[in-house]
Amino acid sequence: MPGMNLENKITSFRPLILAVLIVLLSGLCTGPARAQADNNPLPHLVTENGRHALIVDGAPFLMLGAQCHNSSAWPAMLPKVWPAIEYLHANTLEIPIYWEQFEPEPGKFDTSIVDTILKQAREHNVRLVLLWFGTWKNGSSHYIPLWMKSQPDKYPRIIGKTGRRVDSPSPHAPPTLAADINAFSAFMRHLKEADTLHTVIMVQVENEPGSWNTVRDYSPEAQKLFMAPVPPELLKAMGANAPIGGGNWSKVFGANADEYFHAWSVAHFIGQVAAAGKQEYPLPMYVNASLRDPLKPGSANTYESGGATDNVLWIWKVAAPAIDILAPDIYQGDTARYRKVLKLYSGPDKPLFVPETRGEGAAARMCFAALGQGTIGWSPFGLDYTKYANINTNRPPGAPRETEATLAPVALNYKILGPIMREVARLNFEGKLQAVAEEKGEPTQTLDFGNWTATVSYGVSPFGYGGVAHGNSEPIGRALIAKIGENEFLVTGAFCRVDFKAASGGQRDFLRVEEGGYEKGTWHPLYIWNGDETDWGLDFSSAPQVLRVSLGTY
Ligand code: DGJ
Repeated sequence: MPGMNLENKITSFRPLILAVLIVLLSGLCTGPARAQADNNPLPHLVTENGRHALIVDGAPFLMLGAQCHNSSAWPAMLPKVWPAIEYLHANTLEIPIYWEQFEPEPGKFDTSIVDTILKQAREHNVRLVLLWFGTWKNGSSHYIPLWMKSQPDKYPRIIGKTGRRVDSPSPHAPPTLAADINAFSAFMRHLKEADTLHTVIMVQVENEPGSWNTVRDYSPEAQKLFMAPVPPELLKAMGANAPIGGGNWSKVFGANADEYFHAWSVAHFIGQVAAAGKQEYPLPMYVNASLRDPLKPGSANTYESGGATDNVLWIWKVAAPAIDILAPDIYQGDTARYRKVLKLYSGPDKPLFVPETRGEGAAARMCFAALGQGTIGWSPFGLDYTKYANINTNRPPGAPRETEATLAPVALNYKILGPIMREVARLNFEGKLQAVAEEKGEPTQTLDFGNWTATVSYGVSPFGYGGVAHGNSEPIGRALIAKIGENEFLVTGAFCRVDFKAASGGQRDFLRVEEGGYEKGTWHPLYIWNGDETDWGLDFSSAPQVLRVSLGTY
């Protein structure tokens, strides 16, 4: 720039100088902060090749969870929670945070219970999933603070078709939305400050939202919205199925209009609550769903309408993009329905997480079915030593509380999986793992690994006597097999026999079978299985045993 004076030169370089300064300064400011973040990154979800992982402390993490009873999060009850969690070998406790406790007066937040739970979880070396019992709890709003309950006109319930109020919060009430956003934001803000260690790895927003006893809200405000055009985002998601020019809910969705409208309304409300919370502190967030029958759904007035049932997952995704996972609470007793639910709630755009399920007896084996479907966590409900008996486990009110005996089937899962949970989460994320749960009437299952097929048999006679598998008298078998090398497998399970067949047609040879465990990602063999322990296949009983198996042919 010949002929420019110094002042002009400086002026023309000013933007460049500024940019350099910003880069230098930001380097200075964020250097240590970034280093700290890298050492202790925020729990987050990742998706690669259509598979998902929850990253905790920088690596895939498998939540081996237990959810306590609804009223067990009070400090007086916690001493009855931790011993159960310890006995279970759970690595994650799911526990509610009650809005009524957290905000006893408008705008005044009581963080004492959150802090107590955080402290005690750390003492027990257990991670937390905190459940925000906010506007919705099982379709009602019984956890809103007293100061809200006493103003039912300001924070209204919905109105059913006959004009009667239904015990379910209105998703069309701006004061309720504002209050929930305010409280949930305060909660997440506090977590950010109080939990720099990332003890909390996920947050559930509301609990089984939706409405029982009415398909939607018929209040005047709702009617107005129902007659208004369907939101353009939803039409866009419908692609070619959207009618040209859109229209109101009835025009676009016909017989499904009421249900879809309610799903949109509930999801849109919760999406805003989650987004506000994430602005404070962006932990992974999910919504749990009370399910409809996955095989014979029936009409929307037979299940909780508006929640994330399988038919409206697509609406939830559009209406609540801040929600990372739509998660099924699986109380289905029969395995055909259980497996169907696992399929419906998983996929390349759907990370699977089972936040509530049954854990008693043979039901515990379904943890392995969920793992086979790629789940990032599995967590039965009501596993603590408080007196309340779990109504979902066929035990009548007043039945004895959980004992070590009733918890044992889940404890066995976690004793098997706990020591290898990082490997299991990683291998599942990499698509190398298959896992199965026994099915009644199906004494063998085969798993295809390309050059090898694994056979899992249940109810086999010891050694080779009798030869055939009959199935266990109760279907309690479970197995997990991961391909960790061309001819190498990680194998574990319970109440089953595992064997392999070569695709080449050669006869299987157990070259080396090591029992052992991983420490910080490194395999440590304890001893070698041979003779009776391998001659008939690899037998797993009720002992937690993990094998590394090298195969050959002859
Ligand atoms: C499902 C709910 O999400 C839980 O909070 C609890 O109410 C159980 N049902 C009841 O067993």
